[in-house]
Amino acid sequence: MTSTVTAERTAHSYPGSLYLLPSDEPERERLLKQHQLYTRLFSGRLIFPPVSLSESAEILDIGTGAGAWLCDARSQLPESVQIYGVDIESRLYPSVTSPNIHLSVGSATSLPSYWSSKFELVHQRLLIAAYTREQWFKAVDEMYRVLAPGGYVQLIETGPEWRSGAKTAKHVLFLDDFLGRKGQMIRCTVYLADILKSAGFVDVSEEEVNMNLGKWAGPDGIEGRDSTIGAWRGMRDAVMKAGGMGYFATGEEFDKAIDGVAEEWDTAEGSHTQIRVVYGRKP
Ligand SMILES: C[S@@+](CC[C@H](N)C(=O)[O-])C[C@H]1O[C@@H](n2cnc3c(N)ncnc32)[C@H](O)[C@@H]1O
Repeated sequence: MTSTVTAERTAHSYPGSLYLLPSDEPERERLLKQHQLYTRLFSGRLIFPPVSLSESAEILDIGTGAGAWLCDARSQLPESVQIYGVDIESRLYPSVTSPNIHLSVGSATSLPSYWSSKFELVHQRLLIAAYTREQWFKAVDEMYRVLAPGGYVQLIETGPEWRSGAKTAKHVLFLDDFLGRKGQMIRCTVYLADILKSAGFVDVSEEEVNMNLGKWAGPDGIEGRDSTIGAWRGMRDAVMKAGGMGYFATGEEFDKAIDGVAEEWDTAEGSHTQIRVVYGRKP
């Protein structure tokens, strides 16, 4: 079942950030389940570019969240590999402590100056609800700076389509407007390869899988539904703080619209979105 979280949610407290999703226990649970689904959809792969990490490699996870990718990567890599995580909010960080895990608080758009040319791999997943268009360029420039020559960046995002019926189309139009008015991009996946190239990355490649949405697609469809609906539902406080944008008079109305989308996905066979991985090498 899609879990409805109707109480007010806890947001990050990073000054100046436009990040739209909550940072609380329901969000931690959503992120951990979502990681399992994404990993399954890509047949267990966590690292996509053809990088062969050295024994003493340092790698970076930007927007670490609950640390699901970072912890999984740690279990697959030699203990000598040092794994860094950075996020504007540490509330969701895993409690696991290990000498090769290094977590800090900060923004992707201004990473520490002493990280220049440090990492062999930079991974970033699902910052779609965080950056403005300008911040995408700034964050990717920062990734370029902190990578060692020959190092790879990989970005993983969802979209650009959410295909189903009329209720979904209506909500996606709303998201386009809501994020667009803040300068954010709901269809960021379309631009990622060009943003990497404009920062100087070479050998830029893309891989994409469909993520089915709704009961009609069995257990993975239910998980795809819950992961996406959970994120969309999590925007309610931000939307209502913005006065509902002329789309929703109350939080209840917003919740009802999201319930309608979830029901549509359950019955409209073929409902799906995409997960796209885009990676490139710093020459
Ligand atoms: C949707 S979550 C994804 C978490 C994780 N990457 C995953 O795939 O499970 C997005 C994360 O990015 C973080 N975030 C938002 N803006 C950020 C920024 N400017 N710099 C670093 N992290 C940011 C949020 O706090 C949140 O933890």
